[in-house]
Amino acid sequence: MEQYKSILKRLEKTAREYTNIAPENGQFLAILIRSIRAQNVLEIGTSNGYSAIYLAAALKETGGKLITLEFDPARAAEAEAHLQEVGLNDIVDVRIGNALDEIPMCDATFDLVFLDAEKNEYRRYLELALPNIRPGGLIVADDTVTMRHEMPDYVEFVFNTPQLHSVDIPLDDGIILSYKIGM
Ligand SMILES: C[S@@+](CC[C@H](N)C(=O)[O-])C[C@H]1O[C@@H](n2cnc3c(N)ncnc32)[C@H](O)[C@@H]1O
Repeated sequence: MEQYKSILKRLEKTAREYTNIAPENGQFLAILIRSIRAQNVLEIGTSNGYSAIYLAAALKETGGKLITLEFDPARAAEAEAHLQEVGLNDIVDVRIGNALDEIPMCDATFDLVFLDAEKNEYRRYLELALPNIRPGGLIVADDTVTMRHEMPDYVEFVFNTPQLHSVDIPLDDGIILSYKIGM
C-alpha cells in the first residue's frame, strides 16, 4: 500500500465531501482480499474511487479484478482519473448506472462484495448479488453502527439467513462481515 500513500492522503482531505471509508476500513478490506486470494470483487458505491484504490491495490497482488458501481457520472469520472493516476485502471471496471440494474448484469462469480451505497438498499443489493457470490465468499457492509437505523432489513437478513454467518465489527462507522457458507 506504500506506493498509494500519497494519493490516499490527498483524497483523505476531502473524505467528508465524498463520504469515503476510513483508512482502517480500507486496510481491513485489503487484508481480506489478500487472505482469501480474491479474484473477483464487486464494490457498490464508488464515489471518487478512494476505497477502490485499497481494493484494487490488494487485487493487483492477487491477480484479481474489481467491478465498482456508481450512478453519478461525475464521481465515476473522478474515480477513473484517480485509478489511472496510480496505474490501477487496468484492474478496475468502473460501471456507471444504478446498482439495482447493474448487479444482475455482472456475470462474474464474486469472492467478496463491498456494500457502500444507499443504506436502505443494502438488502436489495445483497439479494441481487448473493447468487453470484461463491460459497466461502465474503460480504462487507459499511456504516453499520452509525447508520444502522437505515438498514434494519439488512441486519435482520444477514443475522437470520442460514446461508450466512455474520459478525458486527466496530471499526470506524461499523462493519458487518458476512460469510456465505457452503464451501
Ligand atoms: C458512501 S459513497 C461511496 C464511498 C466509496 N466507497 C469510498 O469509500 O471511496 C456512496 C456512493 O454510492 C453512490 N450510489 C448511491 N446509490 C447508488 C445506486 N443505487 N447505484 C449506484 N451508485 C449509488 C453515490 O452516488 C455515492 O457516490
